[in-house]
Amino acid sequence: MKAGKLDCWPSYRLACLPSSEKPDIVRRMIIVMANSKGGVGKSTLAVHLVTWLHEQGQTVILADCDAQRSSSDWIKEAAPEIKTVRLNGPDDILNKPPRLGREADYVVADGPGSNNEMSRALLLKGDLAIVPCKASMLEVRALSQATALLKQARDIRGGPPKAKVVLSMVGKNYRLTQDMKDAAKALRLSLVDTPMTLRQVYADAPGQATVVWRMGIRAKDATKEIERLFRELLPDVASRKSATHAGERQAPAKKRRA
Ligand SMILES: Nc1ncnc2c1ncn2[C@@H]1O[C@H](COP(=O)(O)OP(=O)(O)O)[C@@H](O)[C@H]1O
Ligand SMILES: [Mg+2]
Repeated sequence: MKAGKLDCWPSYRLACLPSSEKPDIVRRMIIVMANSKGGVGKSTLAVHLVTWLHEQGQTVILADCDAQRSSSDWIKEAAPEIKTVRLNGPDDILNKPPRLGREADYVVADGPGSNNEMSRALLLKGDLAIVPCKASMLEVRALSQATALLKQARDIRGGPPKAKVVLSMVGKNYRLTQDMKDAAKALRLSLVDTPMTLRQVYADAPGQATVVWRMGIRAKDATKEIERLFRELLPDVASRKSATHAGERQAPAKKRRA
């Protein structure tokens, strides 16, 4: 089949094909959450992104590379139909993602907070690194340390992975300053326009075993924001499917068992 023809394939037709029959030309992508600092929003973003991609009709796998297992525990309750794998060390990461990448359109890998060898392995395998970073000049300056491994991986691979910084836990009155844009640019990182605001619903979502767009009216702003963010990060996905799972959104949040 010719590549040009496939570009015109509607996503619903591709989504109907079993993964084994999908033409190789279909873009498969390993997305890694990369910031060697903990508590910056990696797991929150990973769980929301993999669930969103799944609801857009993509086949997905969540690869949890953090010993704390927070994202795989969360997804098992929030979206048990999503395949989850736990990768236990750098060798696992170097060996398994290419195979996983053949099984799914998108592998979303949640990175560890501090394990350098695992982070390095992830960056050697990923196509796109999403770097959540808290929105303050101190945090943005610390990015050069937090992204040293990214630079190494790019040097070794002669380019990839692409990297995008997402400002996370941003206060309400925050304005993106030129300083921050410059700091990210100096590191050859692009800063996405849509930030993830500091909101209680994001912090409540794992406790309710859900994602923000299933949390009803109080999560309305978070829902809009995170969809805008994902469309900005992955414009091809957004443009391939226009209808958004309105019915699924209404599903009530599950209550976590005590
Ligand atoms: N945008 C946000 N607003 C409020 N709390 C958030 C937000 N993003 C993440 N959190 C909370 O901050 C903490 C750290 O987030 P987490 O995703 O676990 O970070 P990491 O995986 O980088 O360690 C968690 O308690 C999470 O619920
Ligand atoms: Mg985490």
